[in-house]
Amino acid sequence: MSKAFWKEAVVYQIYPRSFMDGNGDGIGDLQGIISRLDYLRDLGIDVVWLGPVYRSPNADNGYDISDYRAIMAEFGTMDDWDLLLEGLHERGIRLVMDLVVNHTSDEHEWFSQSRRSKDNPYRDYYYWRPGKDGAEPNNWASAFGGSAWQYDEQTDEYYLHLFSAKQPDLNWDNPKVRQDIYAMMKWWLDKGVDGFRMDVINFISKAPELPQAPAAEGQRYAWGGQYFMNGPRIHEFLREMNEQALTPGRSIMTIGEMPGVSPEEALLYVGEERKELNMVFQFELMDIDAEGDKWNIRPWKLTEFKRIMDKWQTSLQGKGWNSLYLNNHDQPRMVSRFGNDGRYRVESAKMLATMLHTLQGTPFIYQGEEIGMTNVKFSSIEDYRDVETMNLYRDRVIEGGQDADGVMKSIYAKGRDNARTPMQWDDGGNAGFTCGKPWIGVNPNYREINVKQSLEDPLSILYYYRKLIRLRREHSVLVYGDYRMILDDHEQIYAYMRTLGALRWLVMLNFFESEAEFVLPEEIDYSGKRLVLGNYPADPGADIRRIRLRPYEARVYELE
Ligand code: GLC
Ligand code: CA
Repeated sequence: MSKAFWKEAVVYQIYPRSFMDGNGDGIGDLQGIISRLDYLRDLGIDVVWLGPVYRSPNADNGYDISDYRAIMAEFGTMDDWDLLLEGLHERGIRLVMDLVVNHTSDEHEWFSQSRRSKDNPYRDYYYWRPGKDGAEPNNWASAFGGSAWQYDEQTDEYYLHLFSAKQPDLNWDNPKVRQDIYAMMKWWLDKGVDGFRMDVINFISKAPELPQAPAAEGQRYAWGGQYFMNGPRIHEFLREMNEQALTPGRSIMTIGEMPGVSPEEALLYVGEERKELNMVFQFELMDIDAEGDKWNIRPWKLTEFKRIMDKWQTSLQGKGWNSLYLNNHDQPRMVSRFGNDGRYRVESAKMLATMLHTLQGTPFIYQGEEIGMTNVKFSSIEDYRDVETMNLYRDRVIEGGQDADGVMKSIYAKGRDNARTPMQWDDGGNAGFTCGKPWIGVNPNYREINVKQSLEDPLSILYYYRKLIRLRREHSVLVYGDYRMILDDHEQIYAYMRTLGALRWLVMLNFFESEAEFVLPEEIDYSGKRLVLGNYPADPGADIRRIRLRPYEARVYELE
């Protein structure tokens, strides 16, 4: 397998609005991040993925960009950004920027031009269509609720927005759009950025006719994903982008966020010979606990979880590369969702982290994950800030008349604000995030769960992350080793081997709060073993032919 820095790297995701407020206005900012760079260096991460910091009216917290070459005033200035890049590079940390080019803000200059008249030179930068029989051009739904079309009086036509009405979709079929975007990407690369995380990048090629989507009876809008996910020209566009914008003469890193991609499709994006992207964020695992839409929660089984992980691991092995994540700014906190955020918070957070750092792929840590931050339950909908959550509440409760408690239950489990409460630095006011009034409430558990406490406790999740990151750096078997699942049908334990040449590592993870029996398959023989890491004190001499794993216990062994 070919070597690359982005395979060896551990990435840390910063959601700028919620990381650290440097000037007391309650909003995280660039100076705030700069003040915490030593924290990141000590953690040992190699790359920072910075959420969007471009100029934006913040309809979707920066994922609605009005100027790609300017910094959002709330976050600071371009000088601050330059200082941030310098501070990261000084510490040997690379910077990956968020690239949001499926859509712009409706306040972007291109869109202001575009909406002016049907013959404006920018008209074709977006999707404009006349209405059909007095209604929307088709029945596609916005990811944030309602129709994906917004009527605009000025020219008596509708424009397409797969996300909020303030996020009109760019028309990538127009070569001028592509050239403008590539020029912008090169501009950032010239400024020294080390790569891009590309927002919903597999949505940029739409089926040319924008066809009506099949809808269930009585359903007014249908998602329509089959007409814009992995569309007809997607690979052409990404290869062109790669050729024209992604070859700055030094190594950079590219990650495509891709809902609705199977491992087979993923290989078309990340196959090493394909010259498109380095890796994708897949969503199959994120959909494991939902039926229909994300708010409709269903229980999941570990065997299903394992089947998904195993499929991605083995399908890409030797041909492409996986990203590894269990949460981010769009997903609930991993310890609340896949672990146990009560009695076994520490153990289960460490167990999940063990998995993320010992599978094949590049681990992504989302801010706060490394101290075991949890979901939040605000009692009132007034305390929520996310456009997706607010639209859901409006559509279902205020306009739809559904039971508020049921909807709040879904929001508690799946709402994106779970991940967006401020980073918990210490047990002082507002968790040390701001000396002002935070833009979104702090999780009340900050008195127990915070960085300061973690630094004082040698057994903290934070120190365990440092160990894992170091381990992965020191042992290439964790990066380049082959992966093979064992105990496939075990309902409580996920276990696998990583092998590289003569090196053999064994990982065992108990996903439950009850004890579980691990029995080593007969065919695996060994003459010696070394306990490399675990989340409980353990007897290094224990017989691994048969072991009782404690609640959420994780162990990593090297076999001889
Ligand atoms: C991606 C982002 C999400 C955003 C959406 C629209 O899924 O991660 O935060 O709302 O795209 O840009
Ligand atoms: Ca601020």
